[in-house]
Amino acid sequence: MVKKILLSVCLVTVAALTVMAQVRIATPNVEMVLKAAPGEELQIQYFGGGLSETDVAVLDVAGAPNHNAYPPYGLWCASEASLVVTHSDGNMSTVLKVEGVETVDEHTAKVTRIRLKDTVYPFFVTVCYRAYQDVDMIETWTEIENQEKRPVTLARFDSGYLPVRVGDVWVSHLYGTWANEGRLAQEPLERGMMVIKNKDGVRNSHTDHAEVMFSLDGKPAENEGRVIGAALCYSGNYELRIDTRDTDYHQFYAGINPDNSAYILAPKEVFKTPELALTYSDEGLSGASRNFHKWGRKYKLAHGDRLRKILLNSWEGVYFDINEPGMDQMMADIASMGGELFVMDDGWFGVKYPRLTDNCALGDWKVDRNKLPNGIGWLVEQADRHGIKFGIWIEPEMTNTTSELYEKHPDWVIKAPEREPVTGRGGTQLVLDLSNPEVQDFIFKVVDDLMTENPEIDYIKWDANMSVVSHGSQYLPKDRQSHLYIEYHRGFAAVCDRIRAKYPDVTIQACASGGGRANWGVMPWFDEFWVSDNTDALQRIYMQWGTSYFFPAIAMASHISATPNHTVFRTTSLKYRIDVAMSGRLGMEIQPKNMTDEEKDLCRKAISEYKEIRPVVQFGDLYRLVSPYDGHNMASLMYVSENKSEAVFYWWKTETFYDEHLPRVKMAGLDPERIYKVRELNRIDNEPLPYEGLSFTGEFLMENGLEIPLKHNVDYHKQDDWSSRVLYLVAE
Ligand code: GLA
Repeated sequence: MVKKILLSVCLVTVAALTVMAQVRIATPNVEMVLKAAPGEELQIQYFGGGLSETDVAVLDVAGAPNHNAYPPYGLWCASEASLVVTHSDGNMSTVLKVEGVETVDEHTAKVTRIRLKDTVYPFFVTVCYRAYQDVDMIETWTEIENQEKRPVTLARFDSGYLPVRVGDVWVSHLYGTWANEGRLAQEPLERGMMVIKNKDGVRNSHTDHAEVMFSLDGKPAENEGRVIGAALCYSGNYELRIDTRDTDYHQFYAGINPDNSAYILAPKEVFKTPELALTYSDEGLSGASRNFHKWGRKYKLAHGDRLRKILLNSWEGVYFDINEPGMDQMMADIASMGGELFVMDDGWFGVKYPRLTDNCALGDWKVDRNKLPNGIGWLVEQADRHGIKFGIWIEPEMTNTTSELYEKHPDWVIKAPEREPVTGRGGTQLVLDLSNPEVQDFIFKVVDDLMTENPEIDYIKWDANMSVVSHGSQYLPKDRQSHLYIEYHRGFAAVCDRIRAKYPDVTIQACASGGGRANWGVMPWFDEFWVSDNTDALQRIYMQWGTSYFFPAIAMASHISATPNHTVFRTTSLKYRIDVAMSGRLGMEIQPKNMTDEEKDLCRKAISEYKEIRPVVQFGDLYRLVSPYDGHNMASLMYVSENKSEAVFYWWKTETFYDEHLPRVKMAGLDPERIYKVRELNRIDNEPLPYEGLSFTGEFLMENGLEIPLKHNVDYHKQDDWSSRVLYLVAE
């Protein structure tokens, strides 16, 4: 029986290895064409919208780039390379030729594996492509295999390469810093090398993001024009390079950042690079975003098909001031407003060193009985009594020099050999060395113990508030110190895999001093991320706008907080804060005890209305309409349900002047033939909008749009300079 099975596998492999010169990698609307003739170099001929057989057949003469699809270093040294190898005998050149092509059906995707071999050495690279058959995304990665007798050294190991035809090409990408994450930058691609990178070691999206979009038809437009989108799915250091020399192509390379990360590949070892996800849309930037969102929700985000709960997080409400009556009051308040979950943030743990502020106790994940005499179990019971779920904050990759964990395991932290550790937050924080399997076991146990003792915990906020600041692993051998960054993230992945295997249902938020972990590398284990520690509604419009380029609303935690805002000290109206938070995964981050009854009523109403639109926001198609970055003093976007029967339209004023004449916003994504009834949500005006309850064709809404009054019609003493609207459109 066993023999029979082996035989059939062999037959399939032999048949599959039959090589065709042209390889088509296609999703419903996106296609890549490669030339993979045996004994020749693997070449890329095309990436863009789907092609007909007629056109594929003549691509070669129709101006295909025919660039090496994964250029190695060594011959033609002046060009940038995707792969740089020093072979075991010191030879720094690699020349790869096609050995065979294999295509395997994988559930809803086709995986094409093209095996390349060095012409001299037993050194192999398999270039892999996963083309989804129900979403428009092609993932590419490589598997680098050393069959030489001794180790080889990899000095660069990109995930993928793509030539982009020169024209009027613009790149859109995200940059920022703590409390200002996800800022959108859009610029024409000029001559020279553009490098987008991260070297944090632990988190990788506070500053630049590992995703880009190329607008091929000039200045980026949201709803028209051809766009290529790319996202490197990796949790660690990355480098995206766009090289523009005096040729017809911008050359795009993406992969793990090789800086200080030379990788010694042992004989027989295979190095798998992270996936680079590629998409294409002729419906502008929003079209490419929708492709990322659909693929993300379906294949890359934990529970992308499950509606998210509306929560209250304790952080901005009480900070470290955790105690039983306080937690119970917050739970009662969020429950009374219609919320579904309460999350207790930092400050609940530490026995020998109680966590009263941020300078101790990380790693000592035992409840502080002075604050919580009845433990987590009691809180979970109270949550249940209030009819909501309970969630908890941890930061399991970290410790403090003031902690029982560090006293016991000083050898578990990342630090440069022979030197004192360099500390972070609170003057005492350190990063645990996840390359060490004992540390991995410890981190798994943090979650396992919490969940075993309190199986009803519904949500974990997993934080990470420090970078690798001094390079060194006390676990890795001296000659493998350059593996630290890569092994850290392998360790992180191994822990996350174990947690998800045992706790597939718990909701986990990726927080990292705010938005430090908004990347597709972590999302398979996480349900969402904290967009930013900055909860100021106005600045959130800019950050959430940028973040929405690559990530769906369901993954973007967006909370109503207090004013003056705790980060920028701006005072905004509650209505405005609600209207912004309601465009993502709605939550609250506030002390409800300090809210007036009127404010609570407004939130209660908002939560109830959000429940109505939640499926449209969290599963719908995003159409960005007017960018806050374009200086029109307002911003607008909308979500449309897949069957186009419902839509939610958002409009936020970003500046206020007297005598303004703002553009009337045309909607998008509706069915022109259908008739939509308009209802305003979160209304504070004394009178309804003139078109409240009236119906319009999708065509009218998309050709003309609706006039939005610049101010709210409220009593004189309630007037302020904030204005926003949320309209719910339902097809009749
Ligand atoms: C980080 C997070 C915050 C909060 C604090 C707690 O800054 O981003 O949301 O959880 O840690 O210390």
